[in-house]
Amino acid sequence: MTSTNSPKLDPLATADSQETLNSEIQDISTTYEQRVKADPKQEETQPRLNYPPYRSSLLRHPTKDLHHTDPETIELHSPAFGHRDVHQLESDLTIQHNGEPLGERIVIRGRVLDGNGRPVRNQLIEVWQANASGRYIHKRDQHPAPIDPNFSGVGRAITGDDGTYEFTTIKPAPYPWKNHHNAWRPAHVHFSLFGTDFTQRMITQMYFPGDPLFALDPIYQSITDQKARDRLVATYDHSITSHEWNTGYRWDIILTGSQQTWMEEEDHDHS
Ligand SMILES: [Fe+2]
Repeated sequence: MTSTNSPKLDPLATADSQETLNSEIQDISTTYEQRVKADPKQEETQPRLNYPPYRSSLLRHPTKDLHHTDPETIELHSPAFGHRDVHQLESDLTIQHNGEPLGERIVIRGRVLDGNGRPVRNQLIEVWQANASGRYIHKRDQHPAPIDPNFSGVGRAITGDDGTYEFTTIKPAPYPWKNHHNAWRPAHVHFSLFGTDFTQRMITQMYFPGDPLFALDPIYQSITDQKARDRLVATYDHSITSHEWNTGYRWDIILTGSQQTWMEEEDHDHS
């Protein structure tokens, strides 16, 4: 008889334990902190492409510098989304089906800003996320948590003149993935922004404050700098919370400059 409370081992999961991952994450972090202390110019704002604890990216991360090309003229024309292109109801993920989804109703509100703090208006923002049980609706997600028939987990919004966006949704739960044994992602919402031309689509993730999984997650930790990580974490905002209806979070997205929000490379698997 094997132990009854140990989870079924997934044959695709690597044998590495969370402890092994933690120790690798800690070593990289200590080395980074020492280097920045000695030379603050070494501060990093973006994730490392070669980050060994993120096992599932080892064979597919880019190994060469990105090749910069001049965009074709057509690509320089901004996708000019207007408020008529996206229906206002698309930003409410809780009203897309006949019934109400299960879970904690939340509002996420923030602004999209450029590096000088100017609002970026008419930006198409797309979000996708797991449901309140940590389950995505797509087929690749097969872990045993229930699908919610009243929640698809996708939405769209356009920023207003002051760069503001807002989504009403359900707080997603953490979910397991196959990076290592007993690997769980902190709860997060995926964000995509189209930028100012067709070559600039950017993808990132928003997290929730105080998540106990931050220290254990190789995707979050692949951003070695704590200040850059903090920019991905929303803040609880009681002024966005509304009476007997939803709790509220604020999260601003900064597209350029030293305070830039971390963005994923296009070939990440968006786990
Ligand atoms: Fe995800």
